[in-house]
Amino acid sequence: MFCKVSLITVLAAFVSSAVSEDIEFKLFAYSKKLSSSGLQLFYGDGQAYVGGAPSFVKESVNISLVMTEGDDKFVAKADTTAASTLDWSPEPTMYVDVTEGIASPIGFTKDNATLSSNATTVGFGLYGGWAFHKPDEADIEMKFLATPTNETGIYLVKWNAATTTASDDIAISLRTQAPVALDDK
Ligand SMILES: *[C@@H]1O[C@H](CO)[C@@H](O)[C@H](O)[C@H]1NC(C)=O
Ligand SMILES: *[C@@H]1O[C@H](CO)[C@@H](O)[C@H](O)[C@H]1NC(C)=O
Ligand SMILES: *[C@@H]1O[C@H](CO)[C@@H](O)[C@H](O)[C@H]1NC(C)=O
Ligand SMILES: *[C@@H]1O[C@H](CO)[C@@H](O)[C@H](O)[C@H]1NC(C)=O
Repeated sequence: MFCKVSLITVLAAFVSSAVSEDIEFKLFAYSKKLSSSGLQLFYGDGQAYVGGAPSFVKESVNISLVMTEGDDKFVAKADTTAASTLDWSPEPTMYVDVTEGIASPIGFTKDNATLSSNATTVGFGLYGGWAFHKPDEADIEMKFLATPTNETGIYLVKWNAATTTASDDIAISLRTQAPVALDDK
């Protein structure tokens, strides 16, 4: 018993003294209208897809996202054995285009100075494991959409700054929670 308590004390001390408080996570899309629950988010040629990246992209990368303490950015970290072949420096950062009235694909950029004036890499965060974007002085928003691609079970992720959704768009939540594996029947 004594040993157990002291181990926990040591671990707690180690965690609280860690220099950097990076949070690393994967994101999974949830909606009853998706082909299955908890589709993992992937990087495909600078855009975000769930359920995998379509075969027509040149660069398909299984990613984790990293959020550094005090920084409200989601930085993509390649999580693949092919990582060494990627030009992944600096690591791409997620952005949303918040132009009113349109739904635009969520992208990743290595240089945020090249973005359109309404696109931003800042304001991302997690709220109880749910991804959100928060514009300056506004409330948090979770306006994520999944648009089916022409490949089964793979969707392009968009940010919906419009007031309506196109008929094939599906409102999704992006969560750090991986889907629970269901037993085979
Ligand atoms: C992505 O990476 C995770 C490990 O972080 C692995 O479990 C998963 O199978 C990978 N998915 C694909 C499609 O490579
Ligand atoms: C930026 O957003 C405003 C309003 O949301 C819009 O009027 C303007 O055209 C947008 N600019 C670009 C470059 O998309
Ligand atoms: C680009 O990154 C800098 C540094 O983090 C940040 O201050 C700025 O707001 C970002 N600009 C855009 C358009 O995302
Ligand atoms: C699927 O869509 C992509 C991108 O729009 C296109 O390049 C590709 O040719 C399409 N494939 C088929 C089988 O329609």
